[in-house]
Amino acid sequence: MKKVKKSSNRASTNSSPGQAPGESVRVLISRSRIRRRIQEIARQIRTDFPSEPLHLVGVLKGAVFFLADLAREIPGEVSFDFIAVSSYGKNTHSSGQVRLTRDLDSSVEGKIVIVVEDILDTGMTLQYLLRVFQQRKPKALRVAVLLDKPDRRITPVRADYVGFSIPNAFVVGYGLDYAERYRNLLDVGILKLPEPPEPPEPEVHPA
Ligand code: PRP
Repeated sequence: MKKVKKSSNRASTNSSPGQAPGESVRVLISRSRIRRRIQEIARQIRTDFPSEPLHLVGVLKGAVFFLADLAREIPGEVSFDFIAVSSYGKNTHSSGQVRLTRDLDSSVEGKIVIVVEDILDTGMTLQYLLRVFQQRKPKALRVAVLLDKPDRRITPVRADYVGFSIPNAFVVGYGLDYAERYRNLLDVGILKLPEPPEPPEPEVHPA
C-alpha cells in the first residue's frame, strides 16, 4: 500500500469503480499511454541485451501488472519470479527498516536480472533490494519502474528504465493501491480523499 500521509492528493474529481464514499480518482496516465510506454521500454531492454535470457523480478504486490505486461512485450527468452518486502510501519519508510517477507523461488546467480517495480518513491525499498541482489551475484542487475517520483527521493538510487516521471501526488491504479483498493484500475490516477469534517464552532459565552 502506498504511503498516504506523505503525498498530497488533492485533484479534481471523476468517478471510478470500487471507490469508497467521498473518494474519487482522476486519470493521470491512461491505459493506452501505459501500453505504448511499456512497449518502448521492452524494446529498449531487448536492445540493451540483444540475445540473452532475461530474468524479471517483480516486487509484490504493486508490480504484478507492470511485470505481466512488460514480460509479454519483450521478445526472446524471458523468465520471472517475485519477491516481497515490507517496511516497518507503512508511513515510516524513511526509518529505513525494510525486510524481506517473501524470497525468490530460484537463484539469480549468473542471470541478467531486471527488478520490476510499480513506483520508485523515497528509494528505501529499492536501495534495500539492490543490496540483497548484488550479494547474490547476478551477471547484470537493472531496474525498471513504471512510475518515478524524483521529488520524494531520500536515497541515491535510480532506475535504468522509467515509464513516467510524475509529481508528488497520491496515485492509484495499475497495481498501486490505497488500503488494498484500486489496484485493478486500468489507468493510473490521482486519488482524492474526502475532506475531513469541519471542527465544531467553539462556544462563546458572554463575559
Ligand atoms: C510501494 C512500491 C515500492 C515501494 C516504493 O510498495 O511498490 O515497493 O512502495 O516506495 P519507496 O521508494 O518509498 O521505498 P508498498 O510498500 O506500497 O507495497 P505494495 O506494492 O504491496 O502496495
